[in-house]
Amino acid sequence: MGSAALLFLFLAAAVNVEAATVHEKSQCLDNPPDLSLRGVEAGKVVDNLPGGYRAYVTGPSSSSRVVVLASDIYGFEAPILRKIADKVGATGYYVVVPDFFHGDPYNDSKNLSEWIKSHSPVTAAQDVKPLFASLRKERKSIGVGGYCWGGKFATEMATTDDVEVIVLSHPAYVTVDDMIEVKWPIEILGAQNDTITPPEQVRQYEQALSQRTGIQYFVKIFPRVAHGFACRYNTTDPFTVKSAEQALSYMID
Ligand SMILES: *[C@@H]1O[C@H](CO)[C@@H](O)[C@H](O)[C@H]1NC(C)=O
Ligand SMILES: *[C@@H]1O[C@H](CO)[C@@H](O)[C@H](O)[C@H]1NC(C)=O
Ligand SMILES: *[C@@H]1O[C@H](CO)[C@@H](O)[C@H](O)[C@H]1NC(C)=O
Ligand SMILES: *[C@@H]1O[C@H](CO)[C@@H](O)[C@H](O)[C@H]1NC(C)=O
Repeated sequence: MGSAALLFLFLAAAVNVEAATVHEKSQCLDNPPDLSLRGVEAGKVVDNLPGGYRAYVTGPSSSSRVVVLASDIYGFEAPILRKIADKVGATGYYVVVPDFFHGDPYNDSKNLSEWIKSHSPVTAAQDVKPLFASLRKERKSIGVGGYCWGGKFATEMATTDDVEVIVLSHPAYVTVDDMIEVKWPIEILGAQNDTITPPEQVRQYEQALSQRTGIQYFVKIFPRVAHGFACRYNTTDPFTVKSAEQALSYMID
């Protein structure tokens, strides 16, 4: 393919993300992580992974099965996300939570539509290739679990041969057309009260997947919870805690 064609593809992908840009004050911004809640962590932060990534890693590094968790816009420091990573690690997976934003996650002093322009999940899926290549060189099989922003990242990765399965929890920016490109088993966990990717849209993804041959898929919509329910929830509300725990079990399964 010529470089002009590649550039066109790149621009088309970038435009795609912008077209689906989530608005300010969206549910993507609800319940931002409280960094002061950081407790004991089973894993550690490592620097300089291939591709120049910092990452939180947890679980047995000798495992041949890797789960890459792709964060939402708030990035890899979120305490709840790290607890999720530890729980996945405790089931025997080596878990890698890359800092896709290289120290520049979204925070509420930034303009989300401006920020997303330089932090596109589509571009991130291109940039991450050295990291996945090195994991695969160690003969590891890789699954990606993506939340919100990370849901689009996971979907992009599922069009490559670098992963074997993906799980999207309350994804953002994902289109119905993306479901035509996915090459690997896919699980989608939506939420009844999600205004970013409402249930109707999740059902459209499911419909598109049902017309594929040979793609395994599983779709579930969790009742009475909103966008963010799997990784940014009210930790004192038993119902939201239970919903998030269920979402985690579905992902691990
Ligand atoms: C928000 O991000 C900016 C730029 O990275 C940083 O300087 C600032 O400290 C951050 N604010 C908070 C509250 O973390
Ligand atoms: C954020 O940036 C967009 C695009 O540049 C602009 O239209 C919008 O008004 C900005 N929003 C705020 C709250 O500043
Ligand atoms: C979710 O939506 C349902 C139906 O519209 C509504 O009854 C319920 O109160 C909403 N729950 C939350 C937590 O927003
Ligand atoms: C979290 O849940 C508790 C218990 O249901 C409730 O009292 C509290 O108002 C909720 N906090 C937020 C920020 O919604």
